[in-house]
Amino acid sequence: MKRLTKSLAMATIAMLGCMQSVWAEEKPAPATDDTQKVETATDKAVKREANPIKVESVNEKFAKEFPLQYNTWKATSESTDRSSALEQDPRYVVLWGGYAFSKEYNKPRGHYYAVTDVREILRTGAPKNENDGPMPMACWTCKSPDVARMISEKGEDGYFGAKWAKYGSEIVNPIGCADCHDTGSQEFKEGKPALRIARPHVLRALNTVGWKFEDLDKFGKRAAVCANCHVEYYFAGKTKEVTFPWDKGVDVDSIEQYYDEINFSDWTHSLSKAPMLKAQHPDFEIWSMGTHGKNGVTCVDCHMPKVKDKDGKIFTDHKIGNPFDAFDSTCKTCHEQSKETLQTRVQDHKKKIKDAIIRLEDQLVKAHFEAKAAWDAGATEDEMKEILQAIRHAQWRWDFAAAGHGSYMHAPDETLRIIATGIDRAADARAKLGVVLTKRGVATPVQIPDISTREKAQKVMGIDMEKENREKAEFLRTVVPQWEAEAKKKGLIADPADAK
Ligand code: HEC
Ligand code: HEC
Ligand code: HEC
Ligand code: HEC
Repeated sequence: MKRLTKSLAMATIAMLGCMQSVWAEEKPAPATDDTQKVETATDKAVKREANPIKVESVNEKFAKEFPLQYNTWKATSESTDRSSALEQDPRYVVLWGGYAFSKEYNKPRGHYYAVTDVREILRTGAPKNENDGPMPMACWTCKSPDVARMISEKGEDGYFGAKWAKYGSEIVNPIGCADCHDTGSQEFKEGKPALRIARPHVLRALNTVGWKFEDLDKFGKRAAVCANCHVEYYFAGKTKEVTFPWDKGVDVDSIEQYYDEINFSDWTHSLSKAPMLKAQHPDFEIWSMGTHGKNGVTCVDCHMPKVKDKDGKIFTDHKIGNPFDAFDSTCKTCHEQSKETLQTRVQDHKKKIKDAIIRLEDQLVKAHFEAKAAWDAGATEDEMKEILQAIRHAQWRWDFAAAGHGSYMHAPDETLRIIATGIDRAADARAKLGVVLTKRGVATPVQIPDISTREKAQKVMGIDMEKENREKAEFLRTVVPQWEAEAKKKGLIADPADAK
């Protein structure tokens, strides 16, 4: 069934050198001739040395020179659906009890909306001034090339640390050219990719898994630019610096062990009091464990294919979206099956994974309410310790599988394995809870309230949505226009005429 084209076979062989190390044990041998060594951006990042470089964050400035890339990049604005994941599955509201994700969590949409969406989401709150609000600067990190610009200008210490609202007038352009390209380089001026990782913490993290950016071939670099953002990370220390938990490996077990050893938790669950982990979107990690990742087929092969313009000129399609929409230049370059066959296969994986994931969610919802009942009946810290750890692990596994967007496509078998281990940990928690509840004379099954809609679930979890929405509307009406006006004054936002 999978007769592959010659070009893929060659591409696969060419890239094995760089791709293996994410999952292989050994690291590449160090360079032998030290006198020849040029200090790279990764070397500087590892030493946390400044590496100032000119970053042009205004996307519109590239429109005239690179119309094919610019116009397809701009077409990411055609993907507008950000429907509520909490409405589709109100269990999420309970699972994230006590954490801002239970207020609002939506489907991802085009890169073009990244800045708008982070301003509008309830999770970033409604800061009234630069020292106000729940979130740190780290929260902008995967939204804009202005982040690359600011880190270059101020260094990591100057960028991280402050509250999110402090630089609202600086982070104003959505994910764009300077997030992936060295826009000031001669190469880029000549129309070559000049791919670049502009965030030092990403260079450091890739380095720990043997992916020193400068040593990667073009296939490795293509995947690495997506790892800027489509990864698991956490905010470390007092300055809340974005950090990837990859020291032990990129799989769900290694990352869980990493977090356990440093005793990290994102929040304490409001019902069970378990020390919880929130998975972000480990797309890169999950991809690396799937068939395509293992065969060196990168994100760019499927999401940014090479296409021809009307004059036959080959260029990279920058409209990152659903690869099935461009089937002939994506899947079909390697597969002989029809679009319908492959799409049905992917939908089938999606359905099986969804079914399994809902079983895990149901177990977790029960475990959180049962743990609350146990606390209410006077259970001790000692009795609850192992139970809470099992809940933490089970939900971490659920979230890792659920938060990876497109995991059912990128690595369906690994995703199912992760869910299975989550169900196992949830069963462990509930078996132990049964013992505690019986001992404390609590009647089982513990009553679960009606959480059948987002509204009902949010009420159960004590979230005042009316207040949240009111404050957000006020913030969008008063603070954001000030940010935009200041950014305009500083020349950080393009005059729309620039792009004409
Ligand atoms: C999310 C990452 C990303 C963003 C954002 C991005 N590019 Fe690219 N770009 C790529 C990748 C990946 C390639 C292909 C690299 C390769 O062929 O090795 C590429 C290729 C290019 C090339 C080389 C010619 C070609 O078409 O292959 C140019 C020029 C270019 N991009 C311009 C731009 C401009 C202008 C913008 C902003 C409007 C932009 N890119 C935004 C990732 C990105
Ligand atoms: C600077 C951070 C950043 C980089 C680099 C980046 N992404 Fe994204 N990506 C995001 C964010 C943030 C969103 C969600 C945007 C929203 O919903 O407002 C997103 C959304 C997406 C989506 C969903 C689009 C849709 O229309 O539903 C896809 C697919 C995607 N990215 C693929 C990629 C690929 C492939 C690469 C590498 C070539 C890449 N991204 C590089 C941050 C990034
Ligand atoms: C072999 C092709 C292929 C590769 C390689 C691949 N993807 Fe995907 N990806 C897809 C397909 C197909 C979908 C959408 C499946 C569907 O129809 O629901 C998808 C979905 C996604 C989504 C979810 C979009 C949404 O709106 O929910 C994101 C984000 C994403 N991919 C990012 C990445 C990143 C980042 C990488 C590399 C680390 C990557 N993909 C590698 C084919 C691929
Ligand atoms: C650059 C080449 C390439 C591209 C592009 C590509 N694939 Fe693949 N695909 C492969 C290779 C290689 C394998 C593994 C073949 C093997 O193990 O015999 C594979 C295996 C698969 C499998 C079976 C394994 C699994 O994970 O279920 C499916 C399904 C699949 N691809 C779907 C797709 C879809 C859908 C697209 C487009 C969105 C796509 N592929 C794009 C090369 C590619």
